Amino acid sequence: MSTKATLNYNDLSIDLPVITGSENESAIDIAALRSGANLVTIDPGFKNTGSCESAITFLDGDKGILRYRGYSIEELAEKASFLEVAYLLIFGELPNTEQLEVFENDIKSNSVVDEDIKKIIDAFPKAAHPMGVLASLTSALTAFNPSSVNVNSEADMYKAIVKIMGKFPVLVAWTMRKTQGLPIDYGDKNLDYVGNIMKMMFGQPNEGFKVNPAVKEALNKLLILHADHEQNCSTSTVRIVGSSHAGLFASLSAGISALWGPLHGGANQAVLEMLEAIREDGGDTAKFMMKAKDKNDPFRLMGFGHRVYKNFDPRARIIKKAADEVLEDLGIDDPVLDIAKSLEKEALNDPYFVDRKLYPNVDFYSGIIYRSLGIPVQMFTVMFALGRLPGWIAQWREMRLGKEPIGRPRQIYTGATLRSYVDISHR
Ligand code: ACO
Repeated sequence: MSTKATLNYNDLSIDLPVITGSENESAIDIAALRSGANLVTIDPGFKNTGSCESAITFLDGDKGILRYRGYSIEELAEKASFLEVAYLLIFGELPNTEQLEVFENDIKSNSVVDEDIKKIIDAFPKAAHPMGVLASLTSALTAFNPSSVNVNSEADMYKAIVKIMGKFPVLVAWTMRKTQGLPIDYGDKNLDYVGNIMKMMFGQPNEGFKVNPAVKEALNKLLILHADHEQNCSTSTVRIVGSSHAGLFASLSAGISALWGPLHGGANQAVLEMLEAIREDGGDTAKFMMKAKDKNDPFRLMGFGHRVYKNFDPRARIIKKAADEVLEDLGIDDPVLDIAKSLEKEALNDPYFVDRKLYPNVDFYSGIIYRSLGIPVQMFTVMFALGRLPGWIAQWREMRLGKEPIGRPRQIYTGATLRSYVDISHR
């Protein structure tokens, strides 16, 4: 395979290096284009632009493959704990027993949040969207932990990482409890990471808390499936904010805001609202399929389509099975699951969706599970953020350790050319 590409432009001929990754993906390195030919490249939405080299997550959208550090998502979702996967993503290898124990203990000893954070939570209106609250609280953590900003050594980075891994679930749980008018809780150090999240979210003030193993398994799986997805919108945001040497918590807060949008993580809330709307409308899925295909109707089938997967999203396949299992375990008969299944069946047989390679994505079934666990719809994207946390951290750490330059795209200016100021009396 050639290691260079040649670009001919006017009477110039420029050689550009071609780099190849470990899975044989190739990219033309265009860094010399500007100095060599006074050209930039343009690619709105970065549909065909690699922003970095990364050794964390591999995905092949045509084949429906997703791997973290070389391990298939199917195997990790089946066998690993969320904390093992977090360690794998952040540090590159699966931990041995001792490494996992140290990591877990360091996280636990950092899982107390400054009491004053409660005052900030109290100041938010009860109806505030939890994603906005979580983004603000994550940013506020910087003020309470200023040392997390100047992280110029691996040791400082580690401290910031275990701090946020410990405190983030507390913020997530507190955000949810606030919307429900329930007391907030610091959890229990004797529980493991996911069990403790469950206690903080679901524990009742007037009874002891017992971890339901079926719920824990479903939650563990969901968190793993969301843990990383290479250079998506929120992850790219985390990397680009971090590239200015903003601290970890500030970078994560920006990522949370990016994840909130309905075209990204916010889709899981939008999916459930859509399924509910179809149910309330009488359950006629064909009518909504028509709307989704009508170019004069802004309606889109939420939970369908993906920028990269042009074959099945492997996470959707695992989640669909998990939804079936958890609903059966909990003895729940949810009519929206039937609506979801019939929408999926119709879309997979409809030329509009087939021709555009639109398949269910990770968000299509996740909301059904969250709902069966008693998580409010507005919290669904927060649950996504909880899962994505180690991925964002891993990508931020890789970017900082790789000494990547500050992210600063170019543009092609299309506005007015030079003109003279006109006094307001003559406009
Ligand atoms: N329903 C109906 N039509 C769709 C859908 C959909 N969900 N998604 C894409 N299309 C159509 C578009 O109208 C377009 O049709 P055209 O070629 O006739 O104009 C074509 O498919 C390509 O769509 P784009 O928007 O150009 O694809 P892009 O890669 O930019 O967008 C996205 C991907 C944003 C995920 C899109 O498919 C979408 O809006 N899906 C619904 C929202 C969603 O589920 N988001 C979650 C993504 S997963 C995640 O972030 C975790």
